[in-house]
Amino acid sequence: MKQITSLNEMVAFVHDTKLKQKSIGFVPTMGYLHEGHRALIKDARKENDIVVLSIFVNPTQFGPNEDFAKYPRDMKRDRDIATAEQVDILFTPTVQEMYPVQPLRVSLQAGKAARELCGASRPGHFDGVLTVLLKLFMLIQPARAYFGMKDAQQVAVVEGMVHEYFLPVTIRKVATVREEDGLARSSRNVRLTSEERKEAPVLYESLQFVRQYYDAHPHLTVDVLEAEWLRFLEEKLRFGSIDYARILSFPELQKPTFKGPQLAALAVRYSAARLIDNLLWEEE
Ligand code: PAF
Repeated sequence: MKQITSLNEMVAFVHDTKLKQKSIGFVPTMGYLHEGHRALIKDARKENDIVVLSIFVNPTQFGPNEDFAKYPRDMKRDRDIATAEQVDILFTPTVQEMYPVQPLRVSLQAGKAARELCGASRPGHFDGVLTVLLKLFMLIQPARAYFGMKDAQQVAVVEGMVHEYFLPVTIRKVATVREEDGLARSSRNVRLTSEERKEAPVLYESLQFVRQYYDAHPHLTVDVLEAEWLRFLEEKLRFGSIDYARILSFPELQKPTFKGPQLAALAVRYSAARLIDNLLWEEE
């Protein structure tokens, strides 16, 4: 595996790879790799000649009071995981090279789907995600890019940009990887206290509850379903506080008509981490 930090070197590598007519599979990350990232890399490895993994904690997707400085980082461990997963290029650009001019001269604004769920409590977050991904897609020119469905809203917003701007990349969605007790794998899980960690599987339990409740009462309105879901969560949570628990159509993220894919998504705040999870299901 080769580590590239300079943008020029990355551009030269991509140019050479294209000349050789090799396909690039791209896994964008912010590092502190876990099983979820490994699943993305494994799929990329199967489907492409060259796998590029980026590690870049992107400052533009963090709000002023968010955890940019405290976001967990461990480059040595990440490098070992990337090597074990047979990544070809580990791309670790600097903030200075990715954002040479501040404030940005042109920035992207995500559409309607970005204003719900995490977008409501993290204004500007998805604008920052789209901005960095457009830069990375232009530099790396991947045939396919791999995203975990734990961040279902991110997938919806990124697919929106790809369609809107005719970007020549296929977005591959990879199923959420969970711990044995159901907790979705996340770099932020290390920031839970031991009591919070014990409680955290409740997020996924509550998603299964709402899905089963819907199956048992298919004629209920969304508002009633969401209220039942909140009641379930409030009874179980001692340490976490609910940021949102919503049922929306996917990928539009609008009030559902219960036709087509539905997304039940929630976010819970703990003392030093905010966890998200979701369940996607298809209605006839
Ligand atoms: O999902 C993430 O880790 C980030 O939002 C991404 C896609 C790497 C963009 O910074």
